[in-house]
Amino acid sequence: MKKLYIETLGCAMNVRDSEHIIAELTQKEEFELTSDLTQADLILINTCSVREKPVHKLFSEIGYFNKVKKEGAKIGVCGCTASHLGEEIIKKAPFVSFVLGARNVSKITEIIHKDKAVEVDIDYDESTYAFSDFRSSPYKAFVNISIGCDKKCTFCIVPSTRGEEISIPPELIVQEAKKAAQKGAKEIFLLGQNVNNYGRRFSDRDRDVDFTDLLRMVSQIDEVERIRFTSPHPLHMDDKFLEEFASNPKICKSMHMPLQSGSTKILRAMKRGYTKEWFLDRAARLRQMVPDVRISTDIIVGFPGESDEDFAHTIDVVERVGFEQIFSFKYSPRPLTPAKDYDNQVPQEIASQRLSYLQDLHLKMLDSISARELGKIYNVYFEELKPGGYVAGRTDNNWIVKVKGSEELLGKFADVRITKPGRLGLEGEVIV
Ligand code: 5AD
Ligand code: SF4
Repeated sequence: MKKLYIETLGCAMNVRDSEHIIAELTQKEEFELTSDLTQADLILINTCSVREKPVHKLFSEIGYFNKVKKEGAKIGVCGCTASHLGEEIIKKAPFVSFVLGARNVSKITEIIHKDKAVEVDIDYDESTYAFSDFRSSPYKAFVNISIGCDKKCTFCIVPSTRGEEISIPPELIVQEAKKAAQKGAKEIFLLGQNVNNYGRRFSDRDRDVDFTDLLRMVSQIDEVERIRFTSPHPLHMDDKFLEEFASNPKICKSMHMPLQSGSTKILRAMKRGYTKEWFLDRAARLRQMVPDVRISTDIIVGFPGESDEDFAHTIDVVERVGFEQIFSFKYSPRPLTPAKDYDNQVPQEIASQRLSYLQDLHLKMLDSISARELGKIYNVYFEELKPGGYVAGRTDNNWIVKVKGSEELLGKFADVRITKPGRLGLEGEVIV
């Protein structure tokens, strides 16, 4: 057996792509996984290009791999930066054996046998490819529902790395979810760049099915107890979708609503397709329909042209929606995107100040958000052992909860009383 070491950066799509790579290499080729870099025959890095920092990190990381790898080991670069930089990677780092784009994962078993090969075709269609099966957790399963992204947000490189959006046929999704659930993965996590635009385009034939229909189909699988999904787009949060979200007991009550900016002017420059008012309306409707819902968001500060007044609109939305979780970023100009050429770039110091202001504000908000959890009782699905004799799981509305316990709890649901709230997670005790 040969040994495979794989490092995964970026989003949940990348995590699933890495699972596909592992599946193909361990089942169709003679590889087994190792966590020891120096023992590996094949070292892969699955990259992200959404911001500049991880791209810089890539070259220092593979330089390190090259230094410590064993004699004859190959290094491959996969993922979004592979799609974006292609053969430039081999030019800059000639010890790299191959470059495999984010939309070419199914070619992994071919490319490992080639030298200096580059496969980065963003028109390649893998939407009906049957990957071998590998899952890093027995308790929950990521299931892709689409590939690519048709949105043209002006800050985002993803349409250029993952290509045009194609939905995976619902029959295949249901079949995969069922198989995983029957093997014990009670939670199904549906993945796509833009999940609630599902059904827009299939590569084999037309079908009249949207994301809400797909949610219903997956929830009809008996063995599936929880459904999560990411990422939805606020623009497509119509009433039909919100009503299904609210009324379907298998759909977990946590929603990611990527705001990006609270200023309608900036949202227009980002080509997000919605206004501040639309976003506030959807969030308010969601809170009204699902009082326990936890809403997370992504925010970019310092997008070109963002004035103090625009930033104040973002803060206004943050306060009015009361997001339970915020992923916030300084705008990073990316190649192949329109916004990098806008002539009204915001100075770094101002962007940094805004980011600190937003993050400090949210830390304060988290104190009151978590304090109200004390004494509540939640049904927790346990997934992971933690140091110090703890087991951790998630509530339906996506709090991470840890309790004293052992592996007996793994893969099980239990009612937990919250005894110690924290900003990032809760501690509790199982009620017997
Ligand atoms: N600069 C900063 N953040 C970005 N994101 C996407 N592109 C950029 C960029 N150029 C953020 C968005 C997105 C999240 C995955 O990353 O907030 O929702
Ligand atoms: Fe995921 Fe986007 Fe990063 Fe690609 S660029 S790995 S799609 S976050």
